[in-house]
Amino acid sequence: MLLNFLLSLVFAGLAAAQCNGNTALCGRQYSNVSFIGTHDSAFVGVLPTDNQLLSVTDQLNAGIRFLQAQTHLLNGALELCHTSCIEEDSGTLVSYLTTVNTWIAANPNEVLTILLTNGDNVDVSLFGNAMSTSGLSAYAYTPPSGLSMSDWPTLQELITAGTRLIMFLDYGADTATVPYISNEFAYYFETAYDVTDSSFPSCALDRPPGSSGSGLMMIVNHFLDLDILGILIPDELAAGTTNAVTGTGSIGAQASLCYTTWGRLPNVVLVDYFELGDVFTAQNTLNGL
Ligand SMILES: *[C@@H]1O[C@H](CO)[C@@H](O)[C@H](O)[C@H]1NC(C)=O
Repeated sequence: MLLNFLLSLVFAGLAAAQCNGNTALCGRQYSNVSFIGTHDSAFVGVLPTDNQLLSVTDQLNAGIRFLQAQTHLLNGALELCHTSCIEEDSGTLVSYLTTVNTWIAANPNEVLTILLTNGDNVDVSLFGNAMSTSGLSAYAYTPPSGLSMSDWPTLQELITAGTRLIMFLDYGADTATVPYISNEFAYYFETAYDVTDSSFPSCALDRPPGSSGSGLMMIVNHFLDLDILGILIPDELAAGTTNAVTGTGSIGAQASLCYTTWGRLPNVVLVDYFELGDVFTAQNTLNGL
């Protein structure tokens, strides 16, 4: 009786051993997992400059495991600002990373990626300082130099090693200064952003310029902008369709276009208003779950 009880505890423990919510993902290499990412994850609210309606913690609790955010320099400190800190300032990078640190500490079976933009070409040491101050550097994974797409660890390996936070910077990374902040474009290519055609008719490489894309993971910018006399704002009304699993202009439709173009699926699909549409079903479909 007692033995049965103990065994059932053991099996309950085993059954709970999931990676990013699914046991099937544990054995998958990081470079072979598709993630829905929140574009401009820190710009939360109902203004035209906002890209998300729910907070970063809500994004993580809902299942988002890839966060993208813009940084700018204000009075010597890194802040999450939209194009400029006059347009929108969502607080300090330290406060953002502290929020993420609290969440990742409480969720030990989750692998999370942060992609930051460095709009003011700030020295990477400031990003490293913010990572240390927030505590998040303790979870950071340092890719061995020259890590190729086929050599990435599995999600289980990252979880077991306690290095569950993968971090990229679009410009200005220097692993000699901060080893765990990787140059985004050494690992990924991106499709064009600021798309205003709701059918998302392309999966062509936009950055890094001149790259063939071979050997790079794939980030698809799947958020729709509305062009109002030359000013682009996120198209919230279309988000249900843009973030759908199937149909014209959906995540599924652009992902299959990517598959036709590249012979593989996107690693990351960046979206606005992630809770509109059905991004997690789309993510499961991409992952074959
Ligand atoms: C993962 O591997 C499968 C099988 O090779 C492939 O079809 C799929 O496109 C890959 N996904 C990613 C994100 O690399």
